[in-house]
Amino acid sequence: MPISMMRAFVLHLNLFVINLILGSRISSCKQTLNSMGLGDRLYSNQTLVSQNGAFTLGFFSNSPNAIYLGLWFADTASSPKLWVANRDSPAPTEVFLELTNEGNMILVDSKGKISWMSATSEKNVEMAVLSDTGNLILQSNETATVVWQSFDYPTDTWLPEMKLTSETIFRSWKSLINPAADRFSFRMDDYGALELLWNDYVSYWKADLSIQPSTFVDTTQNRTYTIILTFFSNATSSYYTWMERDNQRCYIALGQDGVLRSHAWNEQLKEWFVLYSNPTNACEVEHLCGPYGICDGNTLPFCKCPPYLTPADSKGWDQNDWSMGCVQARALNCYTDRFVALDYISYNLSGMTSTGSNDSNMCEKLCSHDCTCVAYICSADGMCFLQDTPLVNSQNSPNFGGSFSLRVSGSDNLSPSRRTLKVDLAVCLQAG
Ligand SMILES: *[C@@H]1O[C@H](CO)[C@@H](O)[C@H](O)[C@H]1NC(C)=O
Ligand SMILES: *[C@@H]1O[C@H](CO)[C@@H](O)[C@H](O)[C@H]1NC(C)=O
Ligand SMILES: *[C@@H]1O[C@H](CO)[C@@H](O)[C@H](O)[C@H]1NC(C)=O
Ligand SMILES: *[C@@H]1O[C@H](CO)[C@@H](O)[C@H](O)[C@H]1NC(C)=O
Ligand SMILES: *[C@@H]1O[C@H](CO)[C@@H](O)[C@H](O)[C@H]1NC(C)=O
Ligand SMILES: *[C@@H]1O[C@H](CO)[C@@H](O)[C@H](O)[C@H]1NC(C)=O
Repeated sequence: MPISMMRAFVLHLNLFVINLILGSRISSCKQTLNSMGLGDRLYSNQTLVSQNGAFTLGFFSNSPNAIYLGLWFADTASSPKLWVANRDSPAPTEVFLELTNEGNMILVDSKGKISWMSATSEKNVEMAVLSDTGNLILQSNETATVVWQSFDYPTDTWLPEMKLTSETIFRSWKSLINPAADRFSFRMDDYGALELLWNDYVSYWKADLSIQPSTFVDTTQNRTYTIILTFFSNATSSYYTWMERDNQRCYIALGQDGVLRSHAWNEQLKEWFVLYSNPTNACEVEHLCGPYGICDGNTLPFCKCPPYLTPADSKGWDQNDWSMGCVQARALNCYTDRFVALDYISYNLSGMTSTGSNDSNMCEKLCSHDCTCVAYICSADGMCFLQDTPLVNSQNSPNFGGSFSLRVSGSDNLSPSRRTLKVDLAVCLQAG
């Protein structure tokens, strides 16, 4: 096979794999529409494309019996889904989108069940268009009085020119393949700062960029990307918006792992890369690995289970949904449990109960005699602490200096399970 053909073959294979992974079908063989009028339908063999050709609205599926209406970049094979209409209510069967005669946009499956709607009946909607900025707009007529727009109902992605107001909430996907709204959110706080939250109440990153226009220049990959973030405020409203100075293709998205990243497209290499990540260390994301999960920001996937524990939801875990954390592979039995030493794990001692002792044997006794105690930790200066609630936010950190001992089942025939950290185990059997 000539090299060029081989390349084409490999490229084709890559596209095929990417399409398998992302679930998007190759769109070039589809019929495209530029707008929808009253009574028009969009079937799964069709897409709605923006005037400039940059954005596509269509259907995608990442798993069986789950069809979504989504938006993506038209010409990048590996485009992320920039917006998902029915993220929490996938349609189980063949679907179509209809702009009803009343001006309501509805997503209907073959059984007639409506899985999503714009709720714009009788509001003078006359047509639907996909703007050149990737905004699905329901408007009254050609002179474009906007009645409804997808920019007001974002999923996890902040596109250039989209306004981030005090009402805007971006929510992370549940897993790499499941767009359901999940535990991490990105929004503006009451004072105009940008903020990342876990479960809507624990803030794990904040930056007040409202003071002055912020420009971020990045020159990786032989190109200069200049992201200009602006903040507008008057007596009644305030919002952020952003753009890339040279209109290079970029987007900002809250990852399924709770990290806010700005992504840029390298046209030469035909690939996406990350310009900025906040927080820079994913392990700072609150509850990232769930109860008992251990975070390592330097290796993918970020979350592992400690030895003798196993993912609580192994299917989700394989798709980077770590929210359920890890559970004991074998049931604990207070009286026969033992402790496994994990000296490379750091943990925030402030939530733990101090024993006031620097004697680790004593500490182990205290923990083993208290059936609710799940771990004991001796800090770098030797003081011991007990933990009686599920461990969260533990991190792989070889320089911790203290010692961390986790309660595990004392049953025979234990071996570290799959997908747990591979480490040398120093098992300290229950003393005394
Ligand atoms: C697209 O799908 C619809 C409904 O399934 C069908 O009626 C129509 O003929 C299809 N169009 C093309 C071009 O395949
Ligand atoms: C479009 O709608 C606006 C108000 O909704 C109206 O003032 C205008 O005349 C309409 N234009 C056309 C071309 O129908
Ligand atoms: C950057 O430019 C250099 C020299 O022109 C080239 O060797 C290198 O491959 C380029 N890197 C990227 C990521 O495009
Ligand atoms: C504030 O700005 C908004 C959006 O630009 C505008 O609609 C509104 O009239 C302004 N309010 C005042 C009091 O200036
Ligand atoms: C430990 O937790 C306390 C209280 O929750 C918090 O104030 C502190 O910043 C945490 N320390 C670290 C190093 O994360
Ligand atoms: C523990 O504390 C006692 C008294 O507070 C002290 O005498 C002893 O040296 C300490 N032991 C260690 C190992 O730090």
